[in-house]
Amino acid sequence: METVVSGIRPTGNLHLGNYFGALRNFISMQNEHNCYFFIADYHSLTTHPTPGDLNGNVRQILVEYLAAGLDPDKATLYVQSDVPEVAELYLFLNMNAYIGELERCTSFKDKIRQQPQNVNAGLLTYPTLMAADILIHRANKVPVGKDQEQHLEMTRTFGNRFNRMYNVDFFPEPQAFNFGNELVKIPGLNGSGKMGKSEGEGNAVYFADEPEVIRKKVMKAVTDSGPTEPNQPKPEAIQNIFQLMKVVSTPNTLTFFEEQYNTCQIRYGDMKKQLAQDMIAFTEPFREQIKALLSDEVYISRVRKAGQEKAHESASKTLREVREIIGFRKF
Ligand code: TYM
Repeated sequence: METVVSGIRPTGNLHLGNYFGALRNFISMQNEHNCYFFIADYHSLTTHPTPGDLNGNVRQILVEYLAAGLDPDKATLYVQSDVPEVAELYLFLNMNAYIGELERCTSFKDKIRQQPQNVNAGLLTYPTLMAADILIHRANKVPVGKDQEQHLEMTRTFGNRFNRMYNVDFFPEPQAFNFGNELVKIPGLNGSGKMGKSEGEGNAVYFADEPEVIRKKVMKAVTDSGPTEPNQPKPEAIQNIFQLMKVVSTPNTLTFFEEQYNTCQIRYGDMKKQLAQDMIAFTEPFREQIKALLSDEVYISRVRKAGQEKAHESASKTLREVREIIGFRKF
């Protein structure tokens, strides 16, 4: 049995990218492994330092975890800030993380570009906080999308460095994980590479979106005037639509539109109508569950509290040993 850790930031509702990159794996892994799935509310402050409704956002993600099928009796579901041991491990790891390696991190460079008015130290040390999340449970496997690959590499660097510096064999080497073996990147609807919360309006399809909203977003997805020759390679925006269809539609549907494309008969309006319909059908059960759970305050707080207790137990054990290893001892 492996120890599994992963988290999602509460900066918006869950979208299809989160699901296919991460959550889908969480759901299957909970049956076989010792799983810790959390809501990364500390991390969200690096981009949203004054969140309007932090608590509401955290509750929404917790509800969406449950609606998607995470079972609090199988996996430990918790809120990052409910386990402040994470912050102490982050502090220790920061002492052995070098400015140069943090500055070279791709996500840091992206964020500098996206928010030049707020290049804070939390952004720079985002990977050490993430390493703390993972190492605090001494995890082996981390189900994430492709965008997190480099962060996992850095987690291994920090864990190995700790082992070397203090001459211990304490932290295992956590591996990024996806069932298909390859980490995935789900594209967005606006022609850009990735479905994401910060990639612009209409780019992401959320589980909580009403059918009409999904239909509108999909119908607006970027396309072009269509292929002019048979079997032409697909431009990125078109490739994206096909990739989205691959994850929510049946293989027959996909084959049908592939053929239409290859014979230059494709009508993107028809394809998008079908894609919207399949996305609506795919998200339907989640939407219903989200609505039902959101009103059950008592259950939600019970889940949060139980998760906090279990996560605290594991985290405090690791931290006790880390303090001991570094040399913090009582007189
Ligand atoms: P976040 O909140 O951006 O995304 C949560 C998870 O969803 C995946 N994901 C995607 N996968 C495929 N295609 C996409 N378009 C797509 N968009 C998002 C992400 O890869 C991620 O797995 N730093 C993390 C949160 C985090 C974490 C951790 C994860 C904090 N500590 C420790 C694992 C372990 C993040 O920002 O994810």
